[in-house]
Amino acid sequence: MEKNYKTDQTMSPSNSDSKKNKSSNDIENKKISFPKNFYWGSATASHQVEGGNFNDWSEWEKNNADRLANQAKDRYGWMDIWEDIKPEVTDPNNYISGIACDHYNRYEEDFDLMRQLNLNAYRFSIEWSRIEPEEGKFNEKEIEHYKRFITALEKRGIEPFVTIWHWPIPLWLRDKGGWLSPDITRYFERYSKKLVEELPGVKYWITINEPHINSVQAYFRGEWPPAYKSFPKYHRVINNMIKTHNNTYKAIKKINPNLTVGIAKNNFGLIPYKNTFYNKIAKNIIDWWWNRRFLNKTQHSLDFIGLNYYFNEEKDVFGRDKKLPKEFSDMGFEINPKGIYSVLMQLKDYNKPIFITESGVADREDKIRKDYIYDILKSTHKAIQDGLGVRGHFYWSIIDNFEWDRGFAMKFGLIEVDYKNNLKRKVRDSGWYYGNIAKNNSLNL
Ligand code: BGC
Repeated sequence: MEKNYKTDQTMSPSNSDSKKNKSSNDIENKKISFPKNFYWGSATASHQVEGGNFNDWSEWEKNNADRLANQAKDRYGWMDIWEDIKPEVTDPNNYISGIACDHYNRYEEDFDLMRQLNLNAYRFSIEWSRIEPEEGKFNEKEIEHYKRFITALEKRGIEPFVTIWHWPIPLWLRDKGGWLSPDITRYFERYSKKLVEELPGVKYWITINEPHINSVQAYFRGEWPPAYKSFPKYHRVINNMIKTHNNTYKAIKKINPNLTVGIAKNNFGLIPYKNTFYNKIAKNIIDWWWNRRFLNKTQHSLDFIGLNYYFNEEKDVFGRDKKLPKEFSDMGFEINPKGIYSVLMQLKDYNKPIFITESGVADREDKIRKDYIYDILKSTHKAIQDGLGVRGHFYWSIIDNFEWDRGFAMKFGLIEVDYKNNLKRKVRDSGWYYGNIAKNNSLNL
């Protein structure tokens, strides 16, 4: 029977063993263990948590906050949480990143919380606009900041996984066309080399976060900066990203061949809407375009694949969603954590180590997050048993943060941030639940 995430009252947040009640066939006190040295982490991106950033996104926010607030009803009006979120999502301030979670200054406090949750890895991104605010001129003070940041992680035994680029770009690069610039690969490589040379303590590097999501939203759908609506531009950007990844990989390896370099790739499961011939063909084309093409073209420059998993989708022959999801998160995303299994298994073809570099759910009431984590991890464990080399899981996100064009109203955190009360942090029940799994390196069934 389909589980109804929204109405499953047996899953009270404080009842961490509630899974036991789920079915009489559940095996009492059974647990599944993860491989030795498994990385248990969480992830963030600089612009979403740091605060005080000045880049193409912060500029775009100022020009679009009113519009986003005015359009909130179209976006969320159909959802059962509409009345709850209305005050937030109709307020233009929701869409201005501002000081965000002030992670830039409060990182030690956040790292201490990660330790309390027994996490041994942290994926975060470095803010390009801080490091290179003017073309070719690096800001040594900001480099020092990230050095301190990484040392603070090392002191706590938390392995840094650094994303070189998680979406915003400096204004000088925006003015040169961003990812459409013919020189983007050279700029990206120069910036990446600087980071790798300056931060020798970092072993794991991720070049680009979700190339497809960013290029679709920013160059095809026109929803994110620079807000183009053009398939040819989107296509050019994706190809520039492929080239940039491959060249940057080589450049990093030249500095230190022992570093481990990968990508964070959003893949999703596709189910043909109606099992007709044309729908199956459409499914295969979308699957190739979205899930495989980038990996096919970068596979010789990947030491690992990072999977960002959020949903599966039913598509009809034109690639449109046909149905509203049965159960959905506060983002309106379908809730299908078990769907990660087939998406993971598809990666077997590449024969690389895998990290789940993101998976998480927007759940302001913390009602479904524990179930979600449970199902993601159980399905991941099944993939491991079926021969896939999954080396770690990073929950998105450690703290509530600025969810791009959705703003602060979307709550993804294992830790709640009280924006009305000095950005106070409070670990959610689901956070303790995840922390317990990390501590035991196993999941109670
Ligand atoms: C992105 C994150 C984002 C998350 C939730 C991922 O696509 O990498 O930056 O916050 O999804 O929407």
